[in-house]
Amino acid sequence: MSDAPTPDVLRLQQLRKSYQVGTPLQTEVLHGIDFRLQRGEFTALVGPSGSGKTTLLNLIGLLDTPTDGELFLLGRPTRALDDTARTALRGGSIGFVFQFHHLIQAFGVLDNVLMPALVQGARRTRELERRALDLLQAVGLAAHAGKRPAELSGGQQQRVAIARALLTRPPLVLADEPTGNLDTHSADDVFALLRRFNREFGCAVLVVTHDPRLAQRCDRIVDLVDGRLVGDRRVAETP
Ligand SMILES: Nc1ncnc2c1ncn2[C@@H]1O[C@H](COP(=O)(O)OP(=O)(O)OP(=O)(O)O)[C@@H](O)[C@H]1O
Ligand SMILES: [Mg+2]
Repeated sequence: MSDAPTPDVLRLQQLRKSYQVGTPLQTEVLHGIDFRLQRGEFTALVGPSGSGKTTLLNLIGLLDTPTDGELFLLGRPTRALDDTARTALRGGSIGFVFQFHHLIQAFGVLDNVLMPALVQGARRTRELERRALDLLQAVGLAAHAGKRPAELSGGQQQRVAIARALLTRPPLVLADEPTGNLDTHSADDVFALLRRFNREFGCAVLVVTHDPRLAQRCDRIVDLVDGRLVGDRRVAETP
């Protein structure tokens, strides 16, 4: 074991992303982003529509590759990794919660929660099922474990998506407008769950939100405007 300090969950160094909008036309959407996220930090990513938030989350989630710069996940540089290594690193370290939950309608709720672990090659053991059920219990949906996602409300489905994102206890959870299509009450519930798991499991959370009220409930708010980070502030603790 080395005495080196634990690396940040995430470190971005001059990260750039261009999209090909024609040949040879390229348009740069992220213009050299520097950013660090510490373990357990609960951070809101805010900014106007089209500023590059989803693009940035896709890069951080290793779903897309930067045009330039480097992205360190748990201290590991990721630019040069091949697809297999990226998939393995993603599966082992990142949980995703999207605006539209992407649950698999053909499977039951419990199977949806188990999916990320099974996709990574985990065996469907009793212990794994127990953990999935515990998570469903925690999001208030244990009684719905055998149902199909379509039988649940939007807010309930989003809670299933959170349980799914947390099954493997990832050190980083990425959420892109997880409450965007929910009413205020369900949005509050979903957000409270993210916060609770952040405290219980110590996972860092980076959540895109357009809702200033929800952003104020994070530890830190970073502001992306026109592909540049223009603000980064801590939120004062509410008593
Ligand atoms: N696949 C793509 N090809 C070309 N341009 C793209 C692509 N994806 C996004 N863009 C452009 O990149 C910019 C940033 O888009 P992005 O989706 O990251 O914004 P956003 O901040 O998530 O916006 P919103 O708040 O509306 O979700 C926009 O100008 C968008 O048109
Ligand atoms: Mg977006």
